[in-house]
Amino acid sequence: KYLQDDDISQECSDLLPSLPCEQGWLAASLHLYQGFWLGPRHLNGVLACQRHFRAQDTDILLVTTPKSGTTWLKAILFTLLNRTKYSGSGSQLQHPLLSQNPHDLVPFLELNLYIEQDVPHLASLPPPRLFATHLAYQSLPQSVRDSKCKLVYLCRNPKDTCVSLWHFTNKLRPKDKCENSLQEALDRFCRGVSLFGPYWDHVLGYHKVSSETPEKVLFLKYEDMKEDPRANLKRLAGFLECPFSEDELRDGTVDDILRLCSFDSLSGLEVNKSGKLASGEENKVFFRRGEVGDWVNYLSVDMAERIDRVVEEKLLGSGLRL
Ligand code: A3P
Repeated sequence: KYLQDDDISQECSDLLPSLPCEQGWLAASLHLYQGFWLGPRHLNGVLACQRHFRAQDTDILLVTTPKSGTTWLKAILFTLLNRTKYSGSGSQLQHPLLSQNPHDLVPFLELNLYIEQDVPHLASLPPPRLFATHLAYQSLPQSVRDSKCKLVYLCRNPKDTCVSLWHFTNKLRPKDKCENSLQEALDRFCRGVSLFGPYWDHVLGYHKVSSETPEKVLFLKYEDMKEDPRANLKRLAGFLECPFSEDELRDGTVDDILRLCSFDSLSGLEVNKSGKLASGEENKVFFRRGEVGDWVNYLSVDMAERIDRVVEEKLLGSGLRL
């Protein structure tokens, strides 16, 4: 379903012919809307969510570039925010992550909640509501920018992001279509034509807002999360105004969350080995290697230099290094 371009609204089909169009990484084409590349079905979800979503001050929105570790951060945020409900040996409740994939627990606004024609009823969900999105900052629904809701932004080294996206999209391509070559994927990535790309514009948009209003956007990198997950989880809890108590710091709550959400733990669960998302994709496609620097096993020196050159040029003067 993630890939199909049926069921699109009249507004979306009216808009599509006027947008620049490119061949996509999956079966569907990509269309440039508000400066970012979207599949037709995604555009449909984006339009509906821009029109109908009303942010609340207590909302928490996880924003990521595709393949930057969204699944991991969804798991971490869900566990962090629900830690009292499922904590301790006395808890009778089995943790939802043991039987559900993080994407079913923390839905994307534009890819899940607003993708169907019916507008979802979200107003009565208990606070804090936790949602995810791949939308660029300037494309967020106005109420997200106007409200006091908090955004957690996650990005990842562009070479690992590109390689991960290449693997992921090849797994999701229809069986009758041959795989994209790595060279094709790299060309598209370096031209900015990737899902919710250009990658650098996405990252730079949130980096700027995070520098200007750090209380609104927490800017995280996959590599930093990997290098010092404890420190970054504590930072995350502080940012979301649910810091760990002295007791929690002593009783191992931080490590428990990280252990439950680790690559080995999540990818080893039966639900993630053989289950499917409510939207149809196999859960296992979201877990591949989960390592920093795996690009080295795929990109030639020339290919790596090409991405580095493009991204360095785009990031010039921003103070950001990826
Ligand atoms: P690789 O393809 O490099 O292995 P997203 O969740 O945004 O789709 O990103 C997917 C990437 O995150 C994949 O990277 C996947 O293996 C990795 N990943 C998934 N779960 C993870 C976890 N719990 N910890 C670290 N990385 C994880």
